[in-house]
Amino acid sequence: MSVLLEARNCGKSFKGLQAVKDFSARIEEGKIYGLIGTNGAGKTTVINMLSGVLTPTSGTILYEGRDITGWKPDRVAKAGILRTYQNLRLFGKMTAAENTLIGAQMHRQYGFLDGLLHTKRFAENEKRYHEKAMKMLEEMEISAYADSRADSLPYGSQRRLEIARILAADPKLILLDEPAAGMNPQESADLVRAIRHAREEFNLTVLLIEHDMKVIMNLCEYIYVMASGEVIASGTPEEIRSDPKVIAAYLGRQTNA
Ligand SMILES: Nc1ncnc2c1ncn2[C@@H]1O[C@H](COP(=O)(O)OP(=O)(O)O)[C@@H](O)[C@H]1O
Ligand SMILES: [Mg+2]
Repeated sequence: MSVLLEARNCGKSFKGLQAVKDFSARIEEGKIYGLIGTNGAGKTTVINMLSGVLTPTSGTILYEGRDITGWKPDRVAKAGILRTYQNLRLFGKMTAAENTLIGAQMHRQYGFLDGLLHTKRFAENEKRYHEKAMKMLEEMEISAYADSRADSLPYGSQRRLEIARILAADPKLILLDEPAAGMNPQESADLVRAIRHAREEFNLTVLLIEHDMKVIMNLCEYIYVMASGEVIASGTPEEIRSDPKVIAAYLGRQTNA
């Protein structure tokens, strides 16, 4: 297994507050990783750093052997790291297909004139993007909603639509910030199946933040546990489940999980 991404002692502080003190991780190609921890542990800040939304105040991020620390989000995305946000960020009035097309068009090469003159290249590429968008809707099992307004989809389908949109941008690594938040058990099960399926189909690497322990334990092959801005444990689901530090700091409080 080759290492796709490596975070080395990454930290982020906001005006004196150390949101992340020390985050290190090795993400191998083709695996599904979980990132868990109580609210405020620093999980979203980690994804913000890995996706270029925030520049770490310390540490290094290596991706495919290159130092990408401080790269802007669009450059990180074009290199193959795509993410979703903790809150839905769809264009509600646009259709599901149109939302997904935005992802597919991220790698658009041609310029303004191609579009204006409707060159052959323009037409061929647009057709390809459209087909890719439709394929990703299928992949997420929401193609029946292709022409429906995004905000009219059931909640669980809206969250899968966000994933379809980033899949259309040809990611190597996807970072999902609480994709199952607010879902009922059926929606969570559909999500788990869709993520697994996408991983197989595209040899994707996945890192997801999640509170739903059923989703984490079912889906993830390796888990990082954070508390107060630091990784306090990492290992397989079995190792994490029986780690006294994790039980004390995290799992012990999950009485309703
Ligand atoms: N942009 C920001 N400015 C100031 N403080 C922030 C900012 N983003 C996050 N924080 C703080 O950093 C800590 C970690 O936040 P976050 O990464 O969102 O945690 P988690 O996702 O694990 O719940 C929290 O105390 C939060 O209030
Ligand atoms: Mg968060």
